[in-house]
Amino acid sequence: MAGLIHRRFDTDYPRAVGGDGVYLIDAAGRRYLDASGGAAVSILGHSEDRVVAAIRRQAGELAFAHSSFFTTAPAEDLARRLIARSGLDRVALLTGGSEAIEAAIKLSRQHWVDRGESHREIYISRRQSYHGATIGALSLGGNLPRREPYAPLLREPCLVAPCFEYRERPNGESRAAYAARLAQELEAEIERLGPDRVAGFVAETVGGSTAGAIPPVEDYFERVRAVCDRFGVHLILDEVMCGMGRTGSLFAFEKEAIRPDIVVIGKGLAAGYQPVSAMLTRAEIVAPLEKRGYFQHGHTFMAHPIAAAAACATLDVLEQDELIPRVNETGASLVNDLRAAFGNHPHVGDIRGRGLLLAVEFVQDRMSKMPFPADEQVFLRLKHEAMARGLLCYTMSGTADGERGDHVLLAPPFILSETERGELVARLSDAVDATFEDG
Ligand SMILES: Cc1ncc(COP(=O)(O)O)c(C=O)c1O
Repeated sequence: MAGLIHRRFDTDYPRAVGGDGVYLIDAAGRRYLDASGGAAVSILGHSEDRVVAAIRRQAGELAFAHSSFFTTAPAEDLARRLIARSGLDRVALLTGGSEAIEAAIKLSRQHWVDRGESHREIYISRRQSYHGATIGALSLGGNLPRREPYAPLLREPCLVAPCFEYRERPNGESRAAYAARLAQELEAEIERLGPDRVAGFVAETVGGSTAGAIPPVEDYFERVRAVCDRFGVHLILDEVMCGMGRTGSLFAFEKEAIRPDIVVIGKGLAAGYQPVSAMLTRAEIVAPLEKRGYFQHGHTFMAHPIAAAAACATLDVLEQDELIPRVNETGASLVNDLRAAFGNHPHVGDIRGRGLLLAVEFVQDRMSKMPFPADEQVFLRLKHEAMARGLLCYTMSGTADGERGDHVLLAPPFILSETERGELVARLSDAVDATFEDG
């Protein structure tokens, strides 16, 4: 591992050599149950032959044709299918979540410029959010540790509260009142900044990695949509983590009864078999650009035919095997199992999520919800204890306020069986016990 720059320099990574359903296999032959799909990517597990066959087929026919010269059948096919499923009108295909977020912001901005409203230049986002690692996407994000070293290169974010019930809805406040309060906060922020300067509001439909699987309360997005409409602000939904069936509908916004102006998906779009993401939008948003004749934006690998073929095959498998309804069922069973295993654990504060995007949040004390000090690195200890037991899960710190707090995110492949579900919870249980014994 001499030359490759890894995420951490102090870690000896095992070499992954194979996959078998929900398991990854390393060079020593160890099998790891993938309870987080990497980072909510591997929705079909690691040995889905139908997707592999589609990739082979497409690579044999045509590997690449640059999108400034040609279009291709798989890219057109994927666009058509995503449009049909989303109720939106136009799609751009990119290679990763951050790229798709960049495209969303640039499309939105170009819309305003082309409409003669170039004074609209501010994007409001939410605390405890993550929209990607590129400079533009980091500028939006409310994940403070990930921003910190690059702060001088970033725009100051305009942040409002996320919808984070466990930590931010007081006991005496109803969900309806909470949703109304959050929408009022957004409205006040738009007023404060100047409504003619605000271009868009960016939010994860179901919050993902930063605060750990935080679904919105009912009404929240309807109210947010109404505020955006009142001021003509674009509602841009980031479904890179929560979309593609992960939260029990192909697009997470389907459960919110709203239509966004722009939505971004990635991760599960080709189930990890190819790097691909998409930005979808409404005809009205693209209309001013169409008049101008072009979108001043592009990447070498956008609309890549092999990636598009893999995404089409992923959609086929989701449909043929009826996996999205299964997400709702397996998710509900997994929550029940987690409650049975951890419901009375002194250091488990909350078990939450939607579909198969779930999290367990750890606290020092359940009554006060006090998090562990950051330097105890509970999340890192848990990751290692889990991996030592052949379980891969996505642990994170900063859950409570960006600095303190720990959670484990569970986002297993949709094909998880009942037996594997039991194995997941048993291994996680052992890992949690070992984490707190050592502490
Ligand atoms: C909600 C959300 N948006 C954007 C991104 C960035 O995607 P990528 O890492 O593919 O660039 C992520 C990645 O974790 C994410 O969870």
